Amino acid sequence: MTRDFGFGAYQYTHAKQGLSGISAAAPDYDDSTWRAVNLPHDWAVELPFVNNDTYTLPAPEKRGAYEEDEAAAHGYKPVGRKYPETSIGWYRKVLKLEKGDELKRLTLEFDGVFRDSLVILNGYILNRHESGYTPFEVDISNFINTDDKPNILLVRVDASLGEGWFYEGAGIYRHVWLVKTARTYVPQWGTWIKSDISGAVDIETRIVNGTDIPKTVTLTSIISDADGKVVARLETPVELAAQGETLTNQTTRLASPRLWGLKDPHLYSVRTEIMESGAVIDVFASTFGVREVVFKVDGFVLNGEAMKIKGTNNHQDHAGVGSAIPDGLHVWRLQQLKAMGSNAYRSSHNPATPEVLEACDRLGLLVLDENRLMTSAPEGMDELETLIRRGRNHPSIILWSIGNEEPQQGTERGAKIARDMRRLVKKLDPTRPVTAAMNNGQGFGITESLDVLGVNYYVTRLGPVREKYPNLPVVGTETASTLCTRGEYERSETKLYVPAYDVTAPKWGHTAENWWPLYNRTPNLLGGFVWTGFDYRGEPTPFNWWPSVTSHFGIMDLCGFPKDNFWYYQAWWSNKPVLHLFPHWNWEARKDVSVWVHSNCEAVELFVNGKSVGRKDVVKDYHLEWTVPFAPGKIAAYGYRGGKVAMKAERVTADAAARVALTADRVDDIIVLKAEVFDKNGVPVPKADNPIFFDVEGPAEVIGVGNGNPTSHEPDKALYRKAFNGLAQAIVQVKGNGKVTISARSEGLVSGRVMLKA
Ligand code: GAL
Repeated sequence: MTRDFGFGAYQYTHAKQGLSGISAAAPDYDDSTWRAVNLPHDWAVELPFVNNDTYTLPAPEKRGAYEEDEAAAHGYKPVGRKYPETSIGWYRKVLKLEKGDELKRLTLEFDGVFRDSLVILNGYILNRHESGYTPFEVDISNFINTDDKPNILLVRVDASLGEGWFYEGAGIYRHVWLVKTARTYVPQWGTWIKSDISGAVDIETRIVNGTDIPKTVTLTSIISDADGKVVARLETPVELAAQGETLTNQTTRLASPRLWGLKDPHLYSVRTEIMESGAVIDVFASTFGVREVVFKVDGFVLNGEAMKIKGTNNHQDHAGVGSAIPDGLHVWRLQQLKAMGSNAYRSSHNPATPEVLEACDRLGLLVLDENRLMTSAPEGMDELETLIRRGRNHPSIILWSIGNEEPQQGTERGAKIARDMRRLVKKLDPTRPVTAAMNNGQGFGITESLDVLGVNYYVTRLGPVREKYPNLPVVGTETASTLCTRGEYERSETKLYVPAYDVTAPKWGHTAENWWPLYNRTPNLLGGFVWTGFDYRGEPTPFNWWPSVTSHFGIMDLCGFPKDNFWYYQAWWSNKPVLHLFPHWNWEARKDVSVWVHSNCEAVELFVNGKSVGRKDVVKDYHLEWTVPFAPGKIAAYGYRGGKVAMKAERVTADAAARVALTADRVDDIIVLKAEVFDKNGVPVPKADNPIFFDVEGPAEVIGVGNGNPTSHEPDKALYRKAFNGLAQAIVQVKGNGKVTISARSEGLVSGRVMLKA
């Protein structure tokens, strides 16, 4: 009770408003022993890994299947019913308000809190929100202190119950905004902008009059293109009843609209102004994109261009930071996917964070946005409504998913639930199709409510769908689930690694080559979403037991370091010339090594220590392979186009580790650092596991480290990390202006260093 600050200790916690009995709510409460944290924040990632489970290792013949082990599912972080000491968190903040705020409407917009949160202001319990994935808004106007007393905001977060079968984090892991408006205002997600490629635009604006005076205001919507040029200005008088609200539609037609597409993701902005008695009293900003999305049974068409969906599934989770991904890192992750040639992102299995949607709008990536709960019970319907209201202006969103592999998917009960959910979606957004991800019962149950069928893995179960719904488009909402460990080329039952060749998949899944060529050549499979773009914590398949803490599903590891399959997809998904040769060339003498190439050249010739071992023609959507005995030295691949050598790649036997090279990618205030271990000749050392220390000078700090090793139990919140197969990562956040110098040092090695102007 003391650790919960007296919450619930007295009857009046809920009996008398403002007398919660919570010690930390008192203005003179001494919080000097509390830690200062920045949002977004995930405390689960800060906790040590704990193997305190009654679960026992399955018999060898049973290993590799998905086991129902909660601790493994959540990545062995001590959060949940078994860990009451580390499953509840409190946040305390003194809100800085200004004179005049008492005349305004003040709200706190929470983008996402994991999970079951209470928002308490000045001792008043104002809100309880259970879902860890939907945003919520709390009106605090009536509860602020308008005298000189401080305003004490508390948020109690209870992550004892999970919502998924994967790592979910704990805490205020998305942003919180303090929003101040006039009492007559456009509320959160108050505009809904529909458009089509003819240039027709319909802006629906919600205006709330929170005063007791009826009034007439002028609603002005100013549409500008990406260059800031005003392309339309719409003015409408609006009558508002006292304490009333209105929806106003304004329509226009843009002459030759610039479309939103994958190559040119052009966005229009709308500035909404509410004018009363000649003064602007509220301003609201929105963006939208003009595009046409068509799903047909034999094709997906964006703005008239037929294309396959080349997507990935992802959880919100990254090395060093867990679920509390800073905005710049979200962008960086999406940039890696885009560079691979991916054109789509499924936010599995919960609504995407707003920054992901904004980044997808800006980068030109298509989004399948998904609800967490498949239920027509009030809570689920509220979540569904929030998903759609929040997302419907985003041109990137092309599909709403109402569920994933739900037990009721093929049943009559499922059909009833899906009907209600569909009705709600169509009321809120008739422009986008409804989907759900089915791994069973396809053709039955919920199928009738879907505009696009999402199939997880089992394309062999599509018979009834093709027969009963011959015009229903089918997308692979989950494909692959290929298992690879970065930089490993042999399965290890002791280290719990799988080879990074495209050879391992769980019994329900496929290798890359077992799904993509099939989808690519089959017109009525419109493409799919690979499970997954990045490794994530929990579900450490195929080794669902300690000490394995992250999945092996990613095309990239938890840090976003590419595994070899990255180049398979890049070769067949992007227009870039690709010639990727692997594995490394440090083996025991005379061992036979399987050498692979992912390439979109016409033919590739392999040389071992200068001698050709054969030239092979590339078959579209497949890799090339040779088996050669190892001898130290070098392997080289020559890629041919039009009969000429167009590309070369090589792997050289590395010597001992000699130096650390540091490279940096920067997105806004986030610097993503790669530390790589090389020998004295500049050859990457494939098995290097040297501990690397990150030193930062200047206004910046390391907010997390990682190395992509699925069995590493080193802390994420540290200034050092051992390299895993030659690589380690640090995420640095810039905190001010001035030069930032970061170095990576390791005993006995020459340090790496980068300098950036902040
Ligand atoms: C699916 C599920 C995903 C993930 C995946 C692993 O059944 O929808 O969340 O668990 O399997 O292959």
